[in-house]
Amino acid sequence: MERSILTAVSNARQPRLRGDYSAARADCTIEQDWSAYTAAEHALWRKLYERQMRLVPRYACEEFLHALDRLDLHGGIPRFDAISRKLRRATGWELVAVPGLIPDLAFFEHLANRRFPVTHWLRQPQEAEYIAEPDVFHDFFGHVPLLFDPVYADYMAAYGAGGLKAAQLDSLKHLARLYWYTVEFGLLRTREGLRVYGAGLLSSAGEFLYAAESAEPRRVKFDLERLLRTEYRIDRFQDTYFVIDGFEELIDDTAPDFTPVYARIRRLPPIAPDEATWADVPVRR
Ligand code: PHE
Ligand code: FE
Repeated sequence: MERSILTAVSNARQPRLRGDYSAARADCTIEQDWSAYTAAEHALWRKLYERQMRLVPRYACEEFLHALDRLDLHGGIPRFDAISRKLRRATGWELVAVPGLIPDLAFFEHLANRRFPVTHWLRQPQEAEYIAEPDVFHDFFGHVPLLFDPVYADYMAAYGAGGLKAAQLDSLKHLARLYWYTVEFGLLRTREGLRVYGAGLLSSAGEFLYAAESAEPRRVKFDLERLLRTEYRIDRFQDTYFVIDGFEELIDDTAPDFTPVYARIRRLPPIAPDEATWADVPVRR
């Protein structure tokens, strides 16, 4: 499990982050330098890839699996430029390499312009199960395939623009929850049953099946205001997952102006991660 980019973005200047930020350009990007990856790193990537491929076919949403099929990521750490060429043709997105988590505004600016920041470095072998910062495996395997879906791709760009606006309105805390509970930990309800589309789940060793199968967590129908008020934990599996019926719904429900929404929820108490509300619509597995 990893922290969402937004949780930790505000900490991006802290020395605990392991990336080398001194080499980054003003927009926080760097060169990927694909030739610098070692054989051991490519082998670790393959190990992580094979592990996820034993898990994801069962519960990943079909948009993810379909894109993954066309991406050919099994051989080793991918070249960002090669994938960018395909992505530009599909949805107008491209990938940019970054040293790790980057500040909020730089992150939003990239998303709003259809550039997805991907951390260039790979975790250490002892971090195969758990890593506290997003690495290239999380960023790539978890996030990039869905950028090939036109509707999801539009949602991510709208989110970036929404981030720039939320910063003006001093509402990043609330907007960050939307990223967390959709882009990182979102579930999707289909005729075949519950499916996973959140990157934090798709790239995780343990929480993927927990989110899809366990009787423990709460699963509720996506409700924008309820979600924006819900706090989250970054150090354990989620207590609550929000379920959508499709990416079109996500676009439609987040299209209205959030200004009055932010103003309203600012006056309401937050909802704890494990708290139920009377208006929750439970979603069965
Ligand atoms: N509609 C939101 C606003 O006006 C912007 C947004 C779109 C935010 C999509 C998140 C996702 O602030
Ligand atoms: Fe992520």
